[in-house]
Amino acid sequence: MTVNVVLGISGGIAAYKAPDLVRRLRERGADVQIVMTASAEEFVTSTALQAVSGRPIRSNLWDKEAEAAMSHIELARWADVVLIAPSTAEVMARIVSGGAPDLLTTICLATEAPIALAPAMNHVMWSNPATQANRQVLEERGIHILGPGIGSQACGETGSGRMLEPDVIAAQVVALIGGKGEGLLQGRKVVVTAGPTREAIDPVRYITNRSSGKMGYAMASAASTQGAEVTLVSGPVNLPEPPGVTVVQVESAEDMYTATHDAIGDTDIFIAAAAVADYRPAAVVQQKIKKNDEAMRLELVRCPDILASVAALDAAPFTVGFAAETENVTDYARGKLAKKKLDLIVANRVGRDCGFDRDDNAATVLWNNGEKQFPTASKTELAHDLLELIAEHFYAMRGSETQPKLTVISSND
Ligand code: CTP
Repeated sequence: MTVNVVLGISGGIAAYKAPDLVRRLRERGADVQIVMTASAEEFVTSTALQAVSGRPIRSNLWDKEAEAAMSHIELARWADVVLIAPSTAEVMARIVSGGAPDLLTTICLATEAPIALAPAMNHVMWSNPATQANRQVLEERGIHILGPGIGSQACGETGSGRMLEPDVIAAQVVALIGGKGEGLLQGRKVVVTAGPTREAIDPVRYITNRSSGKMGYAMASAASTQGAEVTLVSGPVNLPEPPGVTVVQVESAEDMYTATHDAIGDTDIFIAAAAVADYRPAAVVQQKIKKNDEAMRLELVRCPDILASVAALDAAPFTVGFAAETENVTDYARGKLAKKKLDLIVANRVGRDCGFDRDDNAATVLWNNGEKQFPTASKTELAHDLLELIAEHFYAMRGSETQPKLTVISSND
């Protein structure tokens, strides 16, 4: 199934990422028709965009030739989704007002397809009450706001307002309309854990780890894209909630254990991507600890093993673990596969320059009598590939059930 995406590009510096976004959308099987605003042309050329999209660029509502070929109303009907990335504060305001002074905003008024905006602007502009009020109105009207991300900005400042990375936007947009397709996991229930946990020492201090949650969030997005009903049990992370996914926010390993078992019910597949603390302080000190002594000891006790406890259930779902290792990666992972009685384990190396808090990852997936390598790829793409393998093994185990065809995603072309 081809997904028709009208990609609106408005005039922000993040427009320089638009050609990459087009590529990412096309990798996922989308047909992309670009509509640029006049100011977008200040940041990215229509020549580059035409080359990557393979379609003539539309920008002018009054272009008689282009309108004769496909009018703005036909374009609005053609779209399965209208995505505006980057979306400036000005475009958000224009859509809120219902004005249609140009082709892009006219299409937004004329379409019945879902609309998604990926805002990109200076952090002060994003937090301005006017922009936040517009964001609220847009969300109330059912328009999806993707991001923005947090980090360093083109203006040299740091804050919230960065456009999400192109592969994240592409994955979220496909997830948004994934429900329409016959995904590989259509009708299946999937529970994913993600992120680190925080184990309190006193009211202001805690023990945690370097997990960013990106891999778990990408797994949840990928499962949702494939039509699954997904619950994501997430430790504290700095990531936007994936569209179409039920997110349960937790802090400690104990909370994550409870939330996971609350959600597990008739789950088909459980994916434990969280970096759960193995130990927590034996007791949480009620008041802030004072530095009265030269040294101090912290007594730690074991946290419950969520993954092993799910795999041990009488009606255990198909259970997938992750193993982040700094050495002997496959040996240690194979040990965990056997010890925790898992169906699959995804092993990857973590360290200074790989694994945690990065956008890419490589992995080896192990099962009882086999393994498969996945070379370095963006976490989003890796998640889609992993999901295909997980689905294949899940259906092989269920035997009698037929495996639906993969329809929306194709990250290998
Ligand atoms: N896991 C879990 N609950 C825990 C600890 C880990 O569900 N309390 C899950 C993780 O989500 C991951 C897998 O178990 O899927 C990792 O296995 P584990 O043996 O706990 O790995 P490490 O914590 O890295 O163990 P070790 O420190 O012994 O290497």
